[in-house]
Amino acid sequence: MKILAIETSCDDTCAAVLENDYLLSNVISSQTDLHAKWGGVVPDIAKRAHMEKIEPVINTALKRAHLTIKEIEVIAVTLGPGLAIALGIGVNKAKELAIKYNKKLIGVNHVEGHILVNLIKNKLGKPERKIEFPALAMTVSGGHTKLVLVEKIGKYTVVGETLDDAAGEALDKASKIMGLGYPGGPIIERLAEKGDKKYLVLPRPLSGQKNFDYSFSGLKTSFYYQVKDWPKEKIGKNLANLSATFQDAVFDSLLIKFKKAIEFYKPKTLLASGGVLANLELRKRLRKLAKEFNTPVFMPTKKEFNTDNAAMIGIVAYYKSLRKEFVKDKESLDRNPRLNFKIN
Ligand code: KG4
Ligand code: ZN
Repeated sequence: MKILAIETSCDDTCAAVLENDYLLSNVISSQTDLHAKWGGVVPDIAKRAHMEKIEPVINTALKRAHLTIKEIEVIAVTLGPGLAIALGIGVNKAKELAIKYNKKLIGVNHVEGHILVNLIKNKLGKPERKIEFPALAMTVSGGHTKLVLVEKIGKYTVVGETLDDAAGEALDKASKIMGLGYPGGPIIERLAEKGDKKYLVLPRPLSGQKNFDYSFSGLKTSFYYQVKDWPKEKIGKNLANLSATFQDAVFDSLLIKFKKAIEFYKPKTLLASGGVLANLELRKRLRKLAKEFNTPVFMPTKKEFNTDNAAMIGIVAYYKSLRKEFVKDKESLDRNPRLNFKIN
C-alpha cells in the first residue's frame, strides 16, 4: 500500500510517502521563521505560506520516494484539529488529487498522528518496537496536552487533558514574558541547563486532584505575577534560573499526572510524542519514570517526528486502510478545526 500523506494543520507544510508502515520520504517546510517575529502563528501568513509550498512539498516527497502520483494508492490528509484556513489548504489539495487521479482518500485526526508516530519504521523496517496493549500515550505540543489510553490501534480513550493552555503553549508564553523568542520551548531548554530550578516557587496545578487533567494557564499566571514588576536587568540576569524554574514546573506537572495514570491503568507500554518531546530533559525524566514501572517507553527517534509532520498522518492512514476506513464521498470531505478526540 503506497500512501501519500499531507499535513497542514498549523505552521508547517508537510508531505510524506509511505509503503505500508515504512517511511519512504518525509518533507517539512517550516514557517517558524515567518511567524517568529510575531511571537506566535499568524493565520494569514500561515495560509499564504501553505498555498505557496503545498505543491513543491508534495512533489519533493514523491521524488524522494522515487514514485509518481500515479503509483500512489491512498491519499491521506489531516482534517483537524488545527487552524481552519491552514487545514483547508491540505484538505483541498488532497481532495483534488484523489479525485483527479482516482485514489482512495483517508481523513486523519492530527492527535492520532502524534500518538502513532512511534510506530513508523524506516525503509529497513527499523526500529522494531513491540507495542503491547493497553498502551498509555502522552502527547504534548503547542496545541495539545493529552493522556490517551490506547486499547488497540484505532481504539482510544482520552483519560486526561489540559483544561486550558497546552504545555508547549505555556513554555511559549513564559518565553514571551521573559522577552525571549518563539517558539519558547527550545530557548527555555537551552537556558534551563545552567539554571536553579528552585529559584522561584511555582505551583503544580491540579496535582493533588484524583483526575489526570492538567492546567498550565495558572502556572503561567503565577510566573507572570512574580516577575512582572522586575526591572529588565533583573530578568536578563536571571534568564537561566527563571527558565529552569518554569520548565521544571511544567515537566513536574506532566509527570505527576502521567505517573498517576500509569498506576491506575497499568499499561504494558508507554508512548510519548509531540513538539515538547524534543526536550532532552523531559525525555530523560520519562525514561526514568518508565524504569520505575519496568515498562518500555517509546519516543520519536528523530527530531522531525516530535513536531508536526506528515509521516505521522501516513502511519495513521496505513492502519485505517487495513480497517478499510476510506472516505465514501470524496467531494464532501471537509476540514474540522475542532475535531474531537474522545472515544473512537
Ligand atoms: O507538535 P508541535 O510542532 O506543534 C503543535 O502541534 O503544537 O509543537 C510545538 C511546541 C511549541 O510550543 C514549542 O515551544 C515546543 O513544541 N517545543 C519544545 C521544544 N521544541 C519545541 N518544548 C520544549 N523543549 C523543546 N526542545
Ligand atoms: Zn501537533
